[in-house]
Amino acid sequence: MSLKIREISLPSPVVIAPMAGVSTRAFRTIARQFGAGLVCNEMVSDKALYYDSTRTRRMLKSDENDHPVSFQIFGHDKDTILNAARILDEETDCDIIDFNMGCPVNKVIKAKAGSYLMKDIDYAYDLVKDLVASVKKPVTVKMRLGFDADHINCVEMAQAMEKAGVSAITLHARTRAQMYEGKADWSWIKKVKDAVSIPVIGNGDVTSVEDMVRMMDETGCDGVMIGRGIVGNPFLIQECVDYFTGEHHTFELEQRFAACKLHAKLLCEDLDERVALSQMRGLASWYLKGLPKSHEYKDRLSKIRTYDELVTILDEYQKLIEDYQASHPDKGKANPAVSEKAETSQAESAPVPAQITTQTETAENIAEDSAPADVKEEVH
Ligand SMILES: Cc1cc2nc3c(=O)[nH]c(=O)nc-3n(C[C@H](O)[C@H](O)[C@H](O)COP(=O)(O)O)c2cc1C
Repeated sequence: MSLKIREISLPSPVVIAPMAGVSTRAFRTIARQFGAGLVCNEMVSDKALYYDSTRTRRMLKSDENDHPVSFQIFGHDKDTILNAARILDEETDCDIIDFNMGCPVNKVIKAKAGSYLMKDIDYAYDLVKDLVASVKKPVTVKMRLGFDADHINCVEMAQAMEKAGVSAITLHARTRAQMYEGKADWSWIKKVKDAVSIPVIGNGDVTSVEDMVRMMDETGCDGVMIGRGIVGNPFLIQECVDYFTGEHHTFELEQRFAACKLHAKLLCEDLDERVALSQMRGLASWYLKGLPKSHEYKDRLSKIRTYDELVTILDEYQKLIEDYQASHPDKGKANPAVSEKAETSQAESAPVPAQITTQTETAENIAEDSAPADVKEEVH
């Protein structure tokens, strides 16, 4: 099973979702270590790039190992979108330019960007056609089913996007009105796949290898995008990739702790330690998901201020688990890859985990904070 986006052959059809506040270079590096076929950057604002925001420019940092990578922009106005696309095309190392037509957060909707664009196929077509024509790199779009249940138009939108020249479509199988709630309706992924000839990447609620296989079987999609399911659990990426290669990797518990430490270390390379660790506060406890007696340690991780503090807490916790396992050999080993049904159900009942909800707000913050005052007016 291979996925090709224009001339770019991806090493696997397992695609890692763009997640504002999560999909940093650090996160992407870890995802790649576990075999991700394509890793997406968090979305950046066209207006912020127009005003040359330092913070937004920093979000476009990548390195020689960070390939293939897709950088995503969001916006409404053609001039600033084309300018942002030119910057991604000429001044960054990204391989693919993705256009966001799925973000549901209020501030983005008020700026008539993200999933607001699902409201007007003609406008989106005209915009994306010029976007595609203005850059050399392949352009993809990420969209939702429609704005709400009464206006599901993803099939028509996908056909318009194909005509506009995009090289692939990702469909998050929810409406804007659903935000991240309810169940993703994969039947629309099949309808979109049947309606276009370009690759379709299915997205929404994949939290195990079984989910991935079921989505591919039910919809015929060419790739599967995973978001929340791999936060704190990059081992799931390798399990999914192993499904295609026939390999079988096993993971030791210490690798989970090592991945968390590496995540923090890489963030510290790109950001001031204080800022990096404030990002890790929301993410670190996800690496302890499903492990026994983790409550106190998650609590402590939510207050960390330095990298050394993070390491101390994780080392203490790792020792606690190892001691516990040594004295309770009958309980078996804690599984570092969290894809058991118990965890899956937990993820389903809380589609946007509490810690990540905070991060979701960063999608709004990006629109708000990375733009100068006059732009802030516009995104409110
Ligand atoms: C914290 C967070 C941030 C997100 N940021 C973005 C983003 O920047 N761009 C985007 O297209 N989608 C974004 N999404 C949506 C995801 O890419 C994905 O479509 C959604 O989470 C559904 O996939 P999942 O069920 O595998 O998590 C975000 C989701 C979360 C939870």
